[in-house]
Amino acid sequence: MRDVTLLNIFEHHITQKYVKRSGFAHAIAVAYHAFHLAKQYKENVDIAAKAGFLHDIGHFTWYRNGKWDYELYRKNDIHPIKGAERAHKLLIRLGENPVQAKETALAILFHTDSFLPTNDIERTTLQKIVKWADEKDEEEGGAHHYRTIKIDRARESIIRLDQLIDAELGLAKEQRLS
Ligand SMILES: [Fe+2]
Ligand SMILES: [Fe+2]
Repeated sequence: MRDVTLLNIFEHHITQKYVKRSGFAHAIAVAYHAFHLAKQYKENVDIAAKAGFLHDIGHFTWYRNGKWDYELYRKNDIHPIKGAERAHKLLIRLGENPVQAKETALAILFHTDSFLPTNDIERTTLQKIVKWADEKDEEEGGAHHYRTIKIDRARESIIRLDQLIDAELGLAKEQRLS
């Protein structure tokens, strides 16, 4: 039994405010990619999916004259830092195990190099997985942030992914016991 499910996270008003801002369709796609990659690399599927779902929770809208301003964004963006902190606070509030909350926050912090002065940081496999998952769903000009999904479909996809995670964690436990 997990302390926090994706559905708990999805239904929280902080998620509804900030993940919605950068797009639920992108967040859910990245959560699924991260889940499958974690399964493939034998990493923790629960942390990968949560970090994938929350990776862009730190986004700020860089608007100038009513339009997204890429120049401002490139220059001033710190969404991985803000996101790591915001996601960590949310997870702890929901009752997540602190070790797992920290790992999730770090995977969010390192999901992109875009805010770092260099691109030579060493990532753990789990951190690489969240970065790859994000890149898999990227579209030119940031179009992935504007893809939409109906709220009911988003909720169903989240419930389905929770079931996949539970099945995978149950299977891993069975394998350890046998
Ligand atoms: Fe991002
Ligand atoms: Fe992203």
